[in-house]
Amino acid sequence: MSEAERADEQGAGERWHDVGAADGLATRAIQTVLAGRTPIALIHRDGRFSAISGVCNHAGGPLGDGSLEGEYVVCPWHSWKFHCETGRGEPGYESDQVPAHAVRVENGRVWVNAAPRTPRRRAAHPPHPLATILRRGEAGGPPLDAPLRVLGISTTGMDVAHPRFSTSDELLDAAIARAGELGAETRTIRLRELRFRHCEGYYSKSARACTWPCSITQMDPSDQLERVYEGVVNWADVFLVATPIRWGAASSLYYKMVERMNCIQNQETIADRILLRNKVVGLIVTGGQDNIQAVVGQMMTFFGELGCQFPPFPFIAHSRGWSAEDMERNVESVRKSRDLHDGACALVERGLDTCRALLGIRIGAEQPARGGRKAHRLDVRAET
Ligand code: FES
Repeated sequence: MSEAERADEQGAGERWHDVGAADGLATRAIQTVLAGRTPIALIHRDGRFSAISGVCNHAGGPLGDGSLEGEYVVCPWHSWKFHCETGRGEPGYESDQVPAHAVRVENGRVWVNAAPRTPRRRAAHPPHPLATILRRGEAGGPPLDAPLRVLGISTTGMDVAHPRFSTSDELLDAAIARAGELGAETRTIRLRELRFRHCEGYYSKSARACTWPCSITQMDPSDQLERVYEGVVNWADVFLVATPIRWGAASSLYYKMVERMNCIQNQETIADRILLRNKVVGLIVTGGQDNIQAVVGQMMTFFGELGCQFPPFPFIAHSRGWSAEDMERNVESVRKSRDLHDGACALVERGLDTCRALLGIRIGAEQPARGGRKAHRLDVRAET
């Protein structure tokens, strides 16, 4: 709510405004009108006008652009409901109330009093746990010198009850195991095991309608993407995202996840708030055929936009090439490839080193054992 709108709401007395011809306004069940500078949701129901504030209690959604469900105005952003005459919340939420305004019809014109006849009341909603951002080295987060944390995110889709061998998971698991050997705390999230809703596009209604925590996460306790948010924003220092290539792109589960991550990026846009600081991302991409660079390029763009950093040589990848249709051999070649497994380990080592540099912790691996995504050994010896 703007300062002007707040001042209008708090103003006392009678401030009647002509908002238009009754005939025209009566053709719509609900609409937004301005009483002076005050946005009003004007309702026409059973032949009568009523008016409540046009600004939702939740995140300021435009109630007048919503819909009418019986006696309740439904906010177009996240569907909170307010009584069309009293402004009170729906049953169970009555203590959440938007101001109600007086309306009268005179000489075919509709008049609304901008001074509300009831106040705005906000019920105390306990903040969602994700509303508090935990950062390493700051209150609530782990100390700077506590073990670094590495999160693996598997995005390959498969039947959870009958899992098959996954080349991207195989390399992810190798990297996570290596992180554990190096003393990091580790977790792995497999998206296929989570039940989570697809992004419902609140951003497309208004940037401010895409909230942190995600609107779906706040409204639907059964939605399990919360685990990814918590892992990425509050827990991990390094995260490794593993995907197969499907039709030249990352997996559908990957895109389902990143669309829901718009709420992380959107905080930069609407609140100048960067949720991911000193986070390092490494990518593992495998495909039977090709398009590695396009897939990685898109993934790097996305995580770069979230404020993440990348290690030198930020991904490992494997494909057998455009003409290969021998997926059985692809599986075997990945399963048996020492180079790919070593490359996955080296990726997480580079990620941890990069993270230490960002955190101001001295980098231990001053002589890297491996040379980037090709995973070949460096034979560096001092010449005497
Ligand atoms: S329900 Fe109205 S802004 Fe969220």
